Amino acid sequence: MLPLPLAFLSLLLFSPGPALAADPTPAGAVLAPIETTPGGVSSDSGNPYAVIPEGYTSPQVPAPIDAISHNPSPRWHAAHAKARAFLANWTVEEKSMLCTGTGWSIGRCVGNTPPIPSRNWTGLCLEDSPLGVRFADFVSAFPAGINAASTFDKDLMYARGYAMGEEFKGKGVNVALGPMTNMGRVAAGGRNWEGFGGDPYLSGWATEMTIRGMQDAGVQATVKHYVGNEQERNRTTSSSNIDDRVLREIYTHPFLRAVQADVAAVMCSYNLVNGSWACQNSKTLNGVLKTDFGFQGYVMSDWTATHSGVLAANSGLDMDMPGDVTFGSLTSFFGQNLTQGVNNGSIPAARLDDMAQRIIASWFLLRQDQDYPAVNFDAFRRTAPENNSHVDVRDDHFKVIQHVGAASTVLLKNLNSTLPLCQPKSIAVIGSDMGPSPRGPNGFADRGGDEGTLAMGWGSGTAEFPYLIDPLTAIAKQARRDRSVLQWWLDDWDLSGVAGIAQTSEVTIVGINSDSGEQYITVDGNEGDRNNLTAWHNGDNVVLAAANASSNVVVVVHSVGPLIIESWIDHPNVTAVLWAGIPGQESGNALVDVLYGLYNPSGRLPYTIAKNRTDYSADIIYFNGTSGPEPQVNYTEGLEIDYRHFLAKNITPRFEFGFGLSYTRFNYTNLQVWNVSESKRDLEEWGLYERWSGSNESESGGASGAGGAVGGGNRTMVGSFTVKSLHRPRWTVSADIQNVGDVNGCEVPQLYLTYPPSAGEPPKVLRDFARINLDPWQAQKVSFNLSRYDVSIWDVVSQKWVIPEGEFGVTVGKSSLDRGVVGSFCPSGKK
Ligand code: BGC
Repeated sequence: MLPLPLAFLSLLLFSPGPALAADPTPAGAVLAPIETTPGGVSSDSGNPYAVIPEGYTSPQVPAPIDAISHNPSPRWHAAHAKARAFLANWTVEEKSMLCTGTGWSIGRCVGNTPPIPSRNWTGLCLEDSPLGVRFADFVSAFPAGINAASTFDKDLMYARGYAMGEEFKGKGVNVALGPMTNMGRVAAGGRNWEGFGGDPYLSGWATEMTIRGMQDAGVQATVKHYVGNEQERNRTTSSSNIDDRVLREIYTHPFLRAVQADVAAVMCSYNLVNGSWACQNSKTLNGVLKTDFGFQGYVMSDWTATHSGVLAANSGLDMDMPGDVTFGSLTSFFGQNLTQGVNNGSIPAARLDDMAQRIIASWFLLRQDQDYPAVNFDAFRRTAPENNSHVDVRDDHFKVIQHVGAASTVLLKNLNSTLPLCQPKSIAVIGSDMGPSPRGPNGFADRGGDEGTLAMGWGSGTAEFPYLIDPLTAIAKQARRDRSVLQWWLDDWDLSGVAGIAQTSEVTIVGINSDSGEQYITVDGNEGDRNNLTAWHNGDNVVLAAANASSNVVVVVHSVGPLIIESWIDHPNVTAVLWAGIPGQESGNALVDVLYGLYNPSGRLPYTIAKNRTDYSADIIYFNGTSGPEPQVNYTEGLEIDYRHFLAKNITPRFEFGFGLSYTRFNYTNLQVWNVSESKRDLEEWGLYERWSGSNESESGGASGAGGAVGGGNRTMVGSFTVKSLHRPRWTVSADIQNVGDVNGCEVPQLYLTYPPSAGEPPKVLRDFARINLDPWQAQKVSFNLSRYDVSIWDVVSQKWVIPEGEFGVTVGKSSLDRGVVGSFCPSGKK
């Protein structure tokens, strides 16, 4: 039995609390003006509190209430029809309850919506995380998002998503709180490892494939954090100021891909975007997400990221999570206040209908009305026997975990074919990162500590390890098979011990790491974001001590993101480097697969490893903004994040985005570009896009359906960004790839575009990639599709995707710096 304090629950949902007073919207107003950033602060350019530059303020956009009728997806259409029928007789109170969480820790999951017995509705369970079911036992600890990205393998991204989806469903979770797809704008960003790296297309593909996997398994996916949550420091007070083009081309792109994958939910973030809180920003919610993308699911707040009732609801927020104003306050901006807002006319009744319909439609979309398992764990009361049936949902997911672990390991250096190892006579394993933690894998709550091997970051983006195979254990098993002698030294601070062990062995394997996580936990002075980009626990000195004592040092790096490795990378005795990310529970097994050549490495860097921290185009604003006006985080680097900046400014990185070696070699030849012909229907639809978008016009004729759009009576045209003709293949690029080495291996050809100079794009931008497996001397033609959208830029004046005139360069290569094979074409037809 769930000890749900129903008295509390009803308090939250029905009694007028202080929340009403906290709602800044004047009672009776149909739409409140958007809030602006506190003014009156001097605009000193070095001052993060400088006033928002002109043009950064988010305009107000009405909710596209009548959205449903314009969406072309038959699945959503059917789901909304069912939802409309299901909700037909619900009262305003009941619909308000549907949209409001029960309050922090009231219920079994990190987020819960209340049961509504009068409607036979049992409520929804929402649970973290993007790498597995959080706060539960008998679940798997999957490789983090950043490792999924490193595979550059769409099928593996899907397989990981599917396996995670099965586990969420098996535990009775309705809504999984992942994937996370922020952009890694700054290398030290605390939660970068939860996401998919520093390129919008890599993130976009990974987001789409993960969601498709998760939702095919039956759980609702939640893409987060929308949008501009790129640093942990000041995440609840800072404004991410992003201009329109950069917002469209970089930061919202992965969310568009999520919508294209029919994602059920979007979580709005803690920060402000251009001066408006992300959870009441009508431009990003009503405008970009619901109107331009035509998103059909619901927007939930990040946990206590809601700042108002009427304003948030009218700006596009559909569900308030966890439901209380502050954790445990038992007051809510939604709940009873939502009811009151509708009753006094501040919120159009049609808007509440729309909110409820979006939530129920998502439930129908995932067929959760049909025999969906009941929640069988309790995130907050894990030892209460009556709430936890300890259902083992792991199946054989260790296989996909080990596979993704090996496929995401990036070989960065391999002198004289040091790797793969072949029955070495003696091995030294060095560094605390190679062994287990004395506390076990779950010794720190939410993994908020760094002891022993690192296989996960910290914060809400975690799960409990069922076990953790550390590298030393896995290497020991292999040593037994090979009859190798194995010694180890896990003390990072006794460097003479390190040297003593290293000098006696044929091969020395040194493990180092670097950790980060979510803001609410500070580890070793790191408040979520990393303070520096160097290895933790004396790691750089451990490598140097080993390399000065041994002529054959293999460095293994477990890191949440890039590190500056200049102090040792060129050391002649550092013969090989494996970048293993944070691979989850099978860490050691995956590493041994690669070390010994059972798995030929093909992982690629999902971000740039610079020579100096200052080489990156942006950094954390380490300003303690607990009082006073919000720090302004101005995205002045524009489109030039990660490798785009290094190319634009001609800065040589240590290892570029997309880079990774193999135990074999590949040749690229014969790049070709073809036109794909269009049907009459495509052309007609394209005409529609041209008419819809950019014109800001609404279709006249009055509203039908749910009762008319807020702020008008006209139907808002939605979904112009997802029309098929914008995304259908219009050109095909192909290249021939051949394995010219001695062993089977996977290669990752990457397609980059070079826009004509007038377009104002960085020198090269990634559009697609593939991972193919080839035997020695086997060749394969690899093809990529390009759509109109893929060759467009966002024109801020016409508010349209526009194909720039002129010649485009095309490169299919091994990384962002590789010259590969090149060609050109002119997509606009005008040179
Ligand atoms: C995080 C979210 C998470 C939520 C629930 C928040 O602090 O930002 O990513 O899903 O908590 O745990």
